[in-house]
Amino acid sequence: MKQDLTAPVITIDGPSGAGKGSITQLVAKKLGYDLLDSGALYRLTALAAIKVGVALDDEDKVAELAASLDVAFVPGEYGEPVNVLLNGEDVTNEIRTESCGTHASKVAPLVKVRAALLQRQRDFQQLPGLVADGRDMGTIVFPNAPVKVYMTASAEERAERRYRQLKEKGEDVKIATLLSEIQERDARDTGRKTAPLKPADDAVMLDTTGLSIDEVLNKVLDLIK
Ligand code: C5P
Repeated sequence: MKQDLTAPVITIDGPSGAGKGSITQLVAKKLGYDLLDSGALYRLTALAAIKVGVALDDEDKVAELAASLDVAFVPGEYGEPVNVLLNGEDVTNEIRTESCGTHASKVAPLVKVRAALLQRQRDFQQLPGLVADGRDMGTIVFPNAPVKVYMTASAEERAERRYRQLKEKGEDVKIATLLSEIQERDARDTGRKTAPLKPADDAVMLDTTGLSIDEVLNKVLDLIK
């Protein structure tokens, strides 16, 4: 479906692990809006490249894959995460690994890849409204969004949250490794030339360090009001 410019958009940007994903889901549910997890598109692009043996720095080939991604986002049962299909195959768990996030951040600086994904992201703007989560939602993809949030938290707290999530899933991880992966990814995301991670001029800064999910949710809902 083509982008509907009359639909309101709320953008939630910030570094990895700041809690954007959970908050985006909760806000979307609360308002009955659609949701765009833009990071999933970069993760899917990287995964598609790896599956067909295209090098992650081969800009033309990765961009071609990005343009032709056959993706479906299938909402789960109430409160369940969205299932993600790539060429009909369920890759929900595969795209959520730390290594897929790292691979995504390697294809994300490629200009042609970002261009290939731009309109696909904008087409998520549909009535009754959209909550869009990413790095450049407020700056590039939806610059006219009426509500823009830039969510941060200290790298240490983000590593700790991620550690707890992965532990719950039974994954054996070291907090020091997670912290250095997060710091490396931050550096790649903020340091790149195209669409670097940074708050839009009109974004509201929200530091979630030490806050519970409910506290953050209430702050975001207050902004929307
Ligand atoms: O948000 P998530 O961790 O899923 O994103 C994975 C990677 O995709 C990020 O580290 C970033 O490099 C890239 N990304 C991006 N622009 C977005 C969303 C994600 O460059 N809007």
